[in-house]
Amino acid sequence: MERSCAVDDRQPGAHAEAHAALLGWFEDRRRDLPWRRTRDPWAVLVSELMLQQTQVARVVPRWQAFLDRWPDPASCASAPRSEVVTAWAGLGYNRRAVDLHRCAGVVVSDHGGRLPDDLPALLALPGVGPYTARAVLAFAFGWDVGVLDTNAARVLARRHGRPLRRTEAQAAADAAVPPGRAWDWNQAVLDLGATVCRSRSVDCGACPLAPGCAWAAAGRPDPDPALGTAGVGRRQSTFHGSDRQG
Ligand code: ADE
Repeated sequence: MERSCAVDDRQPGAHAEAHAALLGWFEDRRRDLPWRRTRDPWAVLVSELMLQQTQVARVVPRWQAFLDRWPDPASCASAPRSEVVTAWAGLGYNRRAVDLHRCAGVVVSDHGGRLPDDLPALLALPGVGPYTARAVLAFAFGWDVGVLDTNAARVLARRHGRPLRRTEAQAAADAAVPPGRAWDWNQAVLDLGATVCRSRSVDCGACPLAPGCAWAAAGRPDPDPALGTAGVGRRQSTFHGSDRQG
């Protein structure tokens, strides 16, 4: 017998309640972040690269300054690499700036200066891994794909009540997206992971997904299923070679 009403991807409509609950929660509590006011693929890419390994509060002032200087791939590609790296100072992991500059060059040479609306082409760009590629597809192009970073993987693993391998986690993240609502859904999952379903000090009482969460239903037993899930459970000290980079 089922122990709980935990998420079961095989059932049609399994996600309907979760969709309504999380999207409603997001409408009321969404963080007002500047990159949420644009759908420009380059601006989204820059935000997502900055947000890897760097806290939201530190990214906020830097993102707009970067885009004021280099509003598109062409302007960035034609700048000296050293200027792009200098503009990145303080965000950490300068390799991301080097990759972004190379990425801008490839976007200009191979894609006419516009980021491609296509997963394999995005994945082929320097510095763009599975997380970033899907973030661009969902947040700029509105594709119904699941954006799977550490926070999202933690939320999913807990809902499922067991650790998930990377391919499973990605499939579950994709399956959970309400058709046509990838932008809100994925941003909501990121906010939920950052503010409620945190790695420590979990706040199930405030969680809109608690009713379908297997881990919450079981009384949050140890070990936390998030810990064995791909991309979660260890501090990521570097972006390069990490699961996020893929
Ligand atoms: N972390 C990664 N992407 C993010 C986004 N779009 N908003 C907030 N936090 C994030």
